[in-house]
Amino acid sequence: MATELDNGIVLVGTGRMAFHLGHAIARAGWRLAGLAGRDAGRTKELALQLRSTPYGIDEAWPDAALYILAVKDDAVPGLAQHIEREDRVLAHTSGALGKEALGNHEHRGVLWPIKSLSPGDPADLSATPLVIDASDDLARRTLFDLARSISGKVVELPTAQRRKLHLAAVFASNFPVYLMERAERLLADEGIDPKLLQPLWNAAARKVGEQGAAASLTGPARRGDTGTVRAHLDLLAGDADLRRAYALLSRMILTDHHPDLAKGFSDTDGQPDL
Ligand SMILES: NC(=O)c1ccc[n+]([C@@H]2O[C@H](COP(=O)([O-])OP(=O)(O)OC[C@H]3O[C@@H](n4cnc5c(N)ncnc54)[C@H](OP(=O)(O)O)[C@@H]3O)[C@@H](O)[C@H]2O)c1
Repeated sequence: MATELDNGIVLVGTGRMAFHLGHAIARAGWRLAGLAGRDAGRTKELALQLRSTPYGIDEAWPDAALYILAVKDDAVPGLAQHIEREDRVLAHTSGALGKEALGNHEHRGVLWPIKSLSPGDPADLSATPLVIDASDDLARRTLFDLARSISGKVVELPTAQRRKLHLAAVFASNFPVYLMERAERLLADEGIDPKLLQPLWNAAARKVGEQGAAASLTGPARRGDTGTVRAHLDLLAGDADLRRAYALLSRMILTDHHPDLAKGFSDTDGQPDL
């Protein structure tokens, strides 16, 4: 069936999102009318991979049904000014930015994959939830056509809910990964192989997927083992920030599961009074 997207897509950016989304668009069989980027070498290289034509960031980009700004959040408003044709759809890929970042463009929207995209082989996005937030019917139809050709999980969410989802995604994915990095550093500092933690990490992710986060939680604070929590805090005496983070997270878990033990536990000065 014919769709607006038959008139092609212009993708802007040469970073992680442009790389993975560009490959997904190409795999889905859409015509990439152009790839625009500010680094000529990177733009040419990605355009070649995607069988598209490279454009400079200040050049006139070719006509297309959809322009996707897959660039750093802060760069979106400036680049949005580039699209003068009001009858085309303009989108960005950020979970946190509102549609107003795209200016007053008549047909504007967001296509946000809930996935952490890192350098590597092109990601398989077929099971990745794609969130759409659109200003009008044309933007909605165009973004749905594209999203459904890439993933089996496409949802539309208004901006306020998408922002909450983005916030939740930081808790669900960014913070645990950062905490894992800090855990690995704790071991590396002692000459202990950080890879010893890997099976624990894998099992935790699998269990959360199978039985949910609430049923998967274990550990000293969950059990109410305040003596062990206190011993861990002593071990962190040389790292005020990590000690505070441990104290706060422990107090939150105690409050949920052992409110009597949480009383009198201070998380502000890193001096828990258990
Ligand atoms: N990566 C993820 O996991 C992920 C997931 C969901 C959503 N997103 C969203 O996807 C978008 C792109 O993120 P990313 O991860 O691809 O970032 P990235 O890998 O850091 O790439 C950022 C891109 O933006 C370009 N850029 C930065 N400032 C610019 C400017 N002033 N003018 C023109 N281009 C500029 C960079 O160009 P140079 O290479 O020349 O610096 C680069 O191509 C963001 O809105 C982000 O919120 C990312």
